[in-house]
Amino acid sequence: MKVRKAVIPAAGLGTRFLPATKALAKEMLPIVDKPTIQFIVEEAKASGIEDILIVEGKQKRSIEDHFDSAPELEQNLEAKGKTALLQMVKDTTDIGVNIFFVRQPYPNGLGDAVRLAKSFIAGEPFVVMLGDDLMQDQVPLTKQLIDEYERTHASILAVKKVPHNEVSAYGVIDPESEVTKGLYNVRKFVEKPAVEDAPSDLAIIGRYLLTPEIFDILDNQKPGKGNEIQLTDAIDTLNQTQRVFAHEFTGDRYDVGNKFGFVETTIEYGLTHPEVKDELRAYILKLADRLRQEDAATPPQQD
Ligand code: UTP
Repeated sequence: MKVRKAVIPAAGLGTRFLPATKALAKEMLPIVDKPTIQFIVEEAKASGIEDILIVEGKQKRSIEDHFDSAPELEQNLEAKGKTALLQMVKDTTDIGVNIFFVRQPYPNGLGDAVRLAKSFIAGEPFVVMLGDDLMQDQVPLTKQLIDEYERTHASILAVKKVPHNEVSAYGVIDPESEVTKGLYNVRKFVEKPAVEDAPSDLAIIGRYLLTPEIFDILDNQKPGKGNEIQLTDAIDTLNQTQRVFAHEFTGDRYDVGNKFGFVETTIEYGLTHPEVKDELRAYILKLADRLRQEDAATPPQQD
């Protein structure tokens, strides 16, 4: 069956970005001028996805408004002859995919957010895409997973090697064997293991292709780490009855779910943005000189 549907969970509390996320979904924070969720929707479309369900939290209407039309703004831009900006605004509405919304009443975890997509998915294979991770590669990562699915007809998660001391921030796989280059059979999926217990450095990153059998498991899934319904735990159970593969992503991943990653991504994206790249590059070089001088002038710290 063709993979046509995607779920974008965006109902987390986003506590790492408070107070910005008090009234705004984390997924609406912009990288220079584009909300992270728009990058995700564009990746979905470029991968052939037709229907997207966004799972929203409380007071987060901003996501719906972002993909809706904005008649007053459009009239204003038109009257002022700002055609390029007008087109940019219209592109967020005529985005070429259907977008649906559902609310997650309580932020009970990623697994709980995905569970709410059951009737929308209606028995089809589907992808889950997290706004925390922006991916860049020649072929979009979601398309890479769909291509693997067409070969294997099995669930498949994207993974990437992370520094060993960071594994406890992720779901991690225990790889059993490498089936073909970068495609692993998995013994176990472990959510946020202690560094000393981590079965590998291959961390689950924010793209999952899942078969619909995951919903029966999620319906009965008990809370796990952090007292939340964990998608990783449900996937580990699924793996006991049908194969779940891991696909190693070799492109660039930008983790925008934490403050440093967010700042880093903003700089990287800024360095490719036609309006600011030259100025930003010159600024960074000047800043680096100033920081070097400051470091040279600071006496070394005594222990
Ligand atoms: P995170 O744990 O990264 O998001 O969840 P968070 O909880 O919003 O962030 P912090 O840790 O408090 O800063 C991964 C993804 O799952 C969604 C989030 O929106 C994010 O995209 N999520 C998480 C939900 O939709 N519902 C939940 O109950 C939890």
